[in-house]
Amino acid sequence: MQIGTSLTHFLIESQRAHKAASGDFTLLMNDIVSACKVISSYVNKGNLIGILGSAESENIQGETQKKLDVISNDVFTNTLMQGGQVAGLASEEMDDVYHLPATAQRGKYLCVYDPLDGSSNIDVNVTVGTIFSVLHAPEGVANPAEAEFLQPGTEQVAAGYCIYGPSTIMVLTTGDGVNGFTLDKDIGEFMLTHPNITIPEDTSEFAINMSNQRFWDAPVKRYIDECLIGKEGPRGRDFNMRWVASMVAEVHRILTRGGIFMYPIDSKHRERGGKLRLMYEANPMSMIVEQAGGLSITGPDRIMSLAPQKLHQRVPVILGSKNEVQRVWDYHKA
Ligand code: AHG
Ligand code: MN
Ligand code: MN
Ligand code: MN
Repeated sequence: MQIGTSLTHFLIESQRAHKAASGDFTLLMNDIVSACKVISSYVNKGNLIGILGSAESENIQGETQKKLDVISNDVFTNTLMQGGQVAGLASEEMDDVYHLPATAQRGKYLCVYDPLDGSSNIDVNVTVGTIFSVLHAPEGVANPAEAEFLQPGTEQVAAGYCIYGPSTIMVLTTGDGVNGFTLDKDIGEFMLTHPNITIPEDTSEFAINMSNQRFWDAPVKRYIDECLIGKEGPRGRDFNMRWVASMVAEVHRILTRGGIFMYPIDSKHRERGGKLRLMYEANPMSMIVEQAGGLSITGPDRIMSLAPQKLHQRVPVILGSKNEVQRVWDYHKA
């Protein structure tokens, strides 16, 4: 589709292309878009409306919630609940599955989300985002429970994120490539600016929290050591490093110019299974990255093939440029 097409028209066109489509997915996406526009507006206003800082509550992850974690979760949850296209919702910021009120209309989808990713960056005015994953709801279940959400990443209907940076950009895949839409605030529409995004297969840029170096396992130690030795080592070239501490920002950079992102297993996070969450961080980002020609693994396994055990399950994540992720994968097999 042409650069400058609005996301609304893009969705309508995609709906037309799928003869069997009922339009429900288009309506769900409209709700997701509306929610992200509202969150974008709050993020932009920041302390003009007094919404930076801590909410003094704790989520099920054991993290102190920021005010904007709570606000973003409320906006996303209420918008999708009112939209009538979902049968149930789940989020990083809610302990359990969210059951719709008895009077609310039910739809045929489930949505799982990280309402504000990178929220440790919000008070310092660094890029944050919203990550979402859309799944099919089981037929005939009025109030889906946790078990109904535990579908592998390969079952996702759609995945995306909205990044709140210098521009607000929505990146979306429905399993047919990846497209990016920039919010034009003057007209209130997301416009296609990044059609058919593909990740360069090679890269000389890695992203990892180096403060965890002493806790890593051997394969990741080996990979990073070799990057650090640079020209003088087996890689024969120098590497650069970035760490924003917002997964959305790292993934967006990788979609733009390539790279490898790792939050691997380490002895600090081993008991919890990793740092990042499978259902609303790892799976949607893996679908986007694979659809853009990259790879996404835990170390030994492909993330999207994992059978989830728990809603808030954590996993190690290594994703990005195909040839680099493949190398780390090979190091795990060695
Ligand atoms: P969230 O803000 O949704 O809790 O996610 C934060 C995640 C992710 O975005 C980022 O890559 C990582 O945590 C940063 O972790 P460190 O602070 O350990 O570097
Ligand atoms: Mn958090
Ligand atoms: Mn997150
Ligand atoms: Mn979050």
